[in-house]
Amino acid sequence: MNDDKGYRSALVTGASRGIGAAVARRLLAGGLTVYGVARSAEALAGVAAELGERFIPCPADVRDTDAILAGLGGAEIDVLVNNAGGLASVRPLVEQTAEETAETIALNLTAPLQLMRRLLPGMVARRRGHVFNLTSTAGRSVLPGTTAYAAAKAGLSQACHVLRYDLAGAGVRITELAPARVETDFYLSAFAGDREALRQKLYTTQRALSPEDIAQTIWAALSLPPHADLSEIVITSTDQAAGGQMFAARDGS
Ligand SMILES: NC(=O)c1ccc[n+]([C@@H]2O[C@H](COP(=O)([O-])OP(=O)(O)OC[C@H]3O[C@@H](n4cnc5c(N)ncnc54)[C@H](OP(=O)(O)O)[C@@H]3O)[C@@H](O)[C@H]2O)c1
Repeated sequence: MNDDKGYRSALVTGASRGIGAAVARRLLAGGLTVYGVARSAEALAGVAAELGERFIPCPADVRDTDAILAGLGGAEIDVLVNNAGGLASVRPLVEQTAEETAETIALNLTAPLQLMRRLLPGMVARRRGHVFNLTSTAGRSVLPGTTAYAAAKAGLSQACHVLRYDLAGAGVRITELAPARVETDFYLSAFAGDREALRQKLYTTQRALSPEDIAQTIWAALSLPPHADLSEIVITSTDQAAGGQMFAARDGS
């Protein structure tokens, strides 16, 4: 980066598409070397072909912290973007399988905690680091059918609050970034049914944020002076008021 913070490298999870790919692109444009994690080596190779040799693919499941660390080969990480996440399904908790519930918590809560546990000591030792945790407005308001996902995101949000106390004075920043709807394949892959109709409804009839909006937000937080920690960001499209209420009819239907 062209300032005194000295950030040179970033690890972005979920870098093969959607928000993560846009964030990787923005960080590279800002001069950082980016290590990109996703399960699909092929998709990461596609991103590398577009972004060039300062994008280093690290194919791994984000739940396998050892595999990610092995992929880094000892590289120091200044900026960690815990972005990989997902909805196994959208339905009431009692209708989810045990595997869906466990996977949702492992992906959205346990994996970012484990990565921070491994990477924060280096940042603290160097007195240089910035962690972004992608949560969601689903963790702050009510989106029916997302019990485990919402609980994981709310848990990650609370982890950020506690970490800021643990890290006070260490020179390491923790930013929680909670987007509302962003136009990616995220929801489409979790819903059963007519994908095109849903895409039309979510992203054409209504206006969502773009992945580039999120990348720009991360860059803005990163660009602040090193002592300024933009700790919580909620971002929505001007067409969306996240956190509405829903009432069942009196007869329960
Ligand atoms: N899109 C929205 O409306 C929205 C709103 C609020 C918050 N968010 C949050 O923003 C983040 C990014 O969402 P997105 O919309 O960009 O999602 P997306 O388009 O579905 O992309 C998800 C990324 O995560 C990777 N990934 C998924 N499971 C993984 C695993 N087990 N191990 C490693 N990588 C994994 C995927 O690659 P592979 O499949 O190859 O592994 C892909 O690169 C998530 O944390 C999500 O909860 C999204």
